[in-house]
Amino acid sequence: MLAKTIEIKDKRVFLIDQTLIPYEEKIVEIKSMDEMYFAIKNMVVRGAPAIGVAAAAGMALFIRDIEDKKFTHEALRKAGTYLKQARPTAVNLFWAVDKVLDYSSAKKIEELKESIWYFVYDMAEEDIAINKAIGRNGADLIPVGKKVNVQTHCNAGSLATVYWGTALGVIRELHNRNQLNMVYADETRPRLQGGKITAWELLQDRIPVTVLSDNMAAYMMGKGHIDMIVVGADRIATNGDVANKIGTYGLAIMAKYHSIPFYVAAPVSTIDFSISSGKEIAIEERNAEEVTHINGKRVLPEGVSIVNPSFDVTPAELITGIITEKKVVSGNYRVEIKNLKLA
Ligand code: MRU
Repeated sequence: MLAKTIEIKDKRVFLIDQTLIPYEEKIVEIKSMDEMYFAIKNMVVRGAPAIGVAAAAGMALFIRDIEDKKFTHEALRKAGTYLKQARPTAVNLFWAVDKVLDYSSAKKIEELKESIWYFVYDMAEEDIAINKAIGRNGADLIPVGKKVNVQTHCNAGSLATVYWGTALGVIRELHNRNQLNMVYADETRPRLQGGKITAWELLQDRIPVTVLSDNMAAYMMGKGHIDMIVVGADRIATNGDVANKIGTYGLAIMAKYHSIPFYVAAPVSTIDFSISSGKEIAIEERNAEEVTHINGKRVLPEGVSIVNPSFDVTPAELITGIITEKKVVSGNYRVEIKNLKLA
């Protein structure tokens, strides 16, 4: 069985180092708020829900380590602002930091030193429960007795959350119901999270997986190998536009052409209720080396120019439904998402 991506124990925080997968499964202790900033920035921990809980744990480390007499709520807010700068697109990072700030705002440091750990632990456990609910809601879309081939992109799995996964939560639930035939995992250039992380975590749980290089997707759809697509999300606007790993938008266009249902699986915490369209989402631009190199070895000629946007935005009209822990929303996203906030 997979270990939890984030383990909070005795006021200490442990992560699976995702930069080493699939070569090595190594748990590392993150010893300070600063180390957590770099763990998020350098993608030791990655995936929107996981980044959120990791940032909240980073705040707890700050509270643990600061001398009582030096603590102020302003200092905690500054720590939050710093952590929020680790990555720009996944809204769960901002959501989780703000939750910790809200929780802490009226509390004294003596109390926080103890209670923040319960708060962050509960947040981590809640993430698992949410993923399981997403999994059930997504699996319910498939008629009883039908077996499906599901395509996914990047890693929206256990490793992108505390445990279980969002898109892979749906896939795990289908597998448990004996309704999964095959997972087709896009390898997801440039960092290969699909080929490295999704394939690795599904193999750990003996779930059948076939990796496709990204440019094989249309071919596989055209040949009738894909019944549905389920991806994760890093930020969802209130009109239903979805930012997710680069390549998701293209996949959605191909799915539309081939009349294949295209679902996004994400917790309500991935919805940014402050923005009205995907145009407002900041897209992370990462290091050119992610494109020019594979596993530290240069594969492109010296001097070539590179773009490396890490995410793209899929317009709501291409999305069949958004699977959340509360319900599957579809159709008039603006109304449905508003209702979701109130539910
Ligand atoms: O850049 P990453 O690896 O953090 O991006 C991850 C993804 O795009 C995931 O598909 C997304 O965060 C959904 S997480 C359940």
